[in-house]
Formats: sequence, C-alpha cells, structure tokens
Amino acid sequence: MSIVSATAVAYPNIAFIKYWGDVDSSLHIPANGSISMNLAELTTRTTVSFTQPLSQDEFTLNGKPTIGKAFERVSILLNRVRQLANISSFANVESHNNFPMAAGIASSASGFAALSLAASHAAGLVLDEKDLSRLARIGSGSACRSIPGGFVEWQSGANDNDSYAFSIASPSHWDLVDCITIVSQEEKIISSSIGHSLAHTSMLQLARIADAPRRLSLCGEAILERDFDQFAEVVQLDSNLMHAVMITSTPSLLYWQPATVSVMHAVQSWRTEGIPVCYTIDAGPNIHVLCLGAEVERIVERLYKLPGVIRVVTAHPGGPAALENTQNLNK
Ligand code: PMV
Repeated sequence: MSIVSATAVAYPNIAFIKYWGDVDSSLHIPANGSISMNLAELTTRTTVSFTQPLSQDEFTLNGKPTIGKAFERVSILLNRVRQLANISSFANVESHNNFPMAAGIASSASGFAALSLAASHAAGLVLDEKDLSRLARIGSGSACRSIPGGFVEWQSGANDNDSYAFSIASPSHWDLVDCITIVSQEEKIISSSIGHSLAHTSMLQLARIADAPRRLSLCGEAILERDFDQFAEVVQLDSNLMHAVMITSTPSLLYWQPATVSVMHAVQSWRTEGIPVCYTIDAGPNIHVLCLGAEVERIVERLYKLPGVIRVVTAHPGGPAALENTQNLNK
C-alpha cells in the first residue's frame, strides 16, 4: 500500500424528510429513511495525511487544534479506515468550512463526508459510493447523505451493510433554493446525538416512524416530478412531526425561538397568497425557507423585513463529495 495525503470537498445537506432517532446508536442505523439536498455554496475542505510519524491523531478545524468530543468522533472514523486498510499509522487532519460555525448550519455532515473520502484515499483504499456513504455514516448519520450528489435518499436499512444513501436526482434536476434564515448565532443547546437518543421517549415517535415510508415516497415523487405543492405539503408536515417529537420528549427539546415562529407564520401566509414556498427546521432555531429559483429575490427581501432575522444565506443543489488531489509522498 502506498501512503498518501488526500484532500476532499463536501457539502452539507438539508433534510426534507428528517432523520430523528436510531435503532443502533453506535452505527447510526436510523429509525426511518430520509431525503435531503446538498447545499452547493457551503463547503468543507479536508486534508488527511498519514505521512508523518505521529503518536496520536491530530485534528485542526478552521485553523484551531481541536480536542474533546469532536476529536473523538474524528478518531472513531479514522479507526474504521485504519481497520479497512490494515494500517496502524495515526493521521493529521486539517478541515476548513467556508461558512461560519456560528451561523447555525451544521458542519458535521459535510465534515464527515469530506473526512471519509480524504481519509480512505490517503490510506490507499478505493471505496465505491455506497461504501463511502456507509463510512461517513459512522461519523454522523446525516453525513452519509453528503457523499452522493444532488437530491439524495438514505435508505434506513437494518444493519451496517444496507444503511446508506444514493442520489435520486442530479443537482441540475430542479432549481430549488434553500434560503437559510439565521435568527440566532448561539451554539446548539442540545446536540443532535443527544436528541436522537431521546426520540423514543416521545409517545409520538412511533406514529412518526410508522408513517415515514409514505412521506418518503411522496417527497421522492414530488422531487422527481418537480411538483412544488406536493413537496411543500410533505416537507412541512415532516418537519412539524419531528419537532412535535422533540417538544414531547423527556426532557422536552424546544429548539424554536420567537423569531423562528414569526418566519413560520410568514411562510404560511405567503403560501396562502399563492407563492410557492415552504419551511423546514433542523435541531436549532434557524429556519430553512425553500423556494424555486425564480422566487429567491422576493423571498429574501421579505425575510429580511421579519423581526429577528439576522441573515439569509442562499444555497442551490450541490454535487457529490469530491476528491481534490492526492499526493504520494513516498515516491
Ligand atoms: O446526523 P446528525 O446526528 O447531525 O442528525 C441530523 C438531524 C437533523 O438535522 C435534525 C435531521 C436530518 O435528517 O438532517
């Protein structure tokens, strides 16, 4: 095996049908399948090298050496890569996001997707898309959806082998735009990993899971047929169901802020006016307002007029995680 250094780029994704709750929390086997879109304007670029003799893994995020939970999660993924490649060397990992962490946009999906691709190449492995998606899932469940490009489905599967994501439509298939509406720049109070482990404490989780295949197929169909009305109905329902589970968990997880609710009301009334627009919200107060490319300007203008809106970042459908370069330092 030749040991190289490799750089990969990946995009975060926004889920239209959400992943919330695991059947296996260490392997991140989800309780239900999900659908998402990669976000082209936001990137994580990660370089992994196994080239220096190190006594442990090293992880630098946005120029800062990082320890603690984030470091441990990186090391767990690197352990899997070492096991697959049958090597024992420690790695140096340098990762940069082109978007501020404080903007409330989760970087774990793009982070672990870029890390999986860069680390596997640097270790001399050539994994296909399915195996890369399975590997990224070990870091963070939703990261498996940042490996394939465009509009992506994560089939829940029953075990490590069959729980992975695949593309259902290319980025150019539909001119859908995510207007990421920032209403708070605070760090998340409860991480999604803790949130997943609490999902079963809500009596609504079983009902949410039981109906997930129906929502998944309605959403997939709406994307393939570019049917915004059907898309909007099912995306908002799915987000509301996940937040119903969050709020009714023990302890209760209420991620919304007053400004989140103002935007929800506004989007709802714009839809009643006939504007094709809908919202979805992840495990935080910021709200993703989804619309078609032709509507972006007027939606963003209206969003900035709402109370509590700090910033709106727009993102179009993004491609797959991609290798930027590899270097064989042994040659
Ligand atoms: O992959 P995680 O553990 O960060 O979980 C993601 C959870 C949500 O963002 C709330 C939903 C989703 O499907 O992305």
